[in-house]
Amino acid sequence: MTIFALYNLKGGVGKTAAAINLAYLAAADVYKTLIWDLDPQGSSSFYLKVQANNKNETKKLFAEEIDVKDAAQDSAFENLWIIPADISARNIDTLLSDIKHSKRKLKSLLANLKEYDIVILDCPPGISLLHENIFNAADYILMPNIPTTLSINSFEMVSAYFDDNGLDKSKLKCFFSMVDHRKNLHHEVMQQFYRDKLFFKNYIPYLSDVEKMGINQQPLFEYANSSYAAQCYRDLWHEVKKVCL
Ligand SMILES: Nc1ncnc2c1ncn2[C@@H]1O[C@H](COP(=O)(O)OP(=O)(O)OP(=O)(O)O)[C@@H](O)[C@H]1O
Ligand SMILES: [Mg+2]
Repeated sequence: MTIFALYNLKGGVGKTAAAINLAYLAAADVYKTLIWDLDPQGSSSFYLKVQANNKNETKKLFAEEIDVKDAAQDSAFENLWIIPADISARNIDTLLSDIKHSKRKLKSLLANLKEYDIVILDCPPGISLLHENIFNAADYILMPNIPTTLSINSFEMVSAYFDDNGLDKSKLKCFFSMVDHRKNLHHEVMQQFYRDKLFFKNYIPYLSDVEKMGINQQPLFEYANSSYAAQCYRDLWHEVKKVCL
């Protein structure tokens, strides 16, 4: 089992869009794939049209009142399952702060999901005890970055957090997201960051076909399979596979 976390300290950078589209491609490649929606916004759950079966399910999963295996639900797509989020996901940090081995709780829960080839964690933005759990549990942290000053500041904060806390920085794999070719700043920032090897070569441009996932409530490939946006996610997925699997 390989665990990927779609993570950034910053919100609205394309984590969920990538979580859904990469999971879809993994499933199409016949990897048994599970998305775990850890964000109380529940955007991944929305895109896959799945809702939690139990009241306060996320909270109950972390309290081990429900087995994670039982929380995984079928999606409409072959080889793709999801543990949906509900609003109780907003309380994970409080719950974690009250338990033993609180930095490794997520890792121990994920150990029960070995039947899956790939688990993709759709993470809320931030940097908290939940995120430390994510950093410990994930084999790879896939971090979308918009090539702007503020976004790069947040990348540098995460990078410094890894250094300061003795976390394994080789897990951190970044890609550019929402790239706007008309903006010189985007080009300049990308050139600067391609010099170190933390960033994937392939990136996701700002494209309205991706935005339409919200209207269509579907992975991109279901309504725009031959679009440029779909090709960009395919290229990124090939690179992720080559580097990480
Ligand atoms: N490449 C893209 N081009 C255009 N729009 C995009 C792209 N990627 C994502 N979006 C849109 O931008 C918004 C934020 O994207 P998304 O939800 O994937 O980000 P996020 O990082 O998961 O946000 P949050 O931090 O709130 O969880 C959504 O409306 C989405 O449809
Ligand atoms: Mg999201």
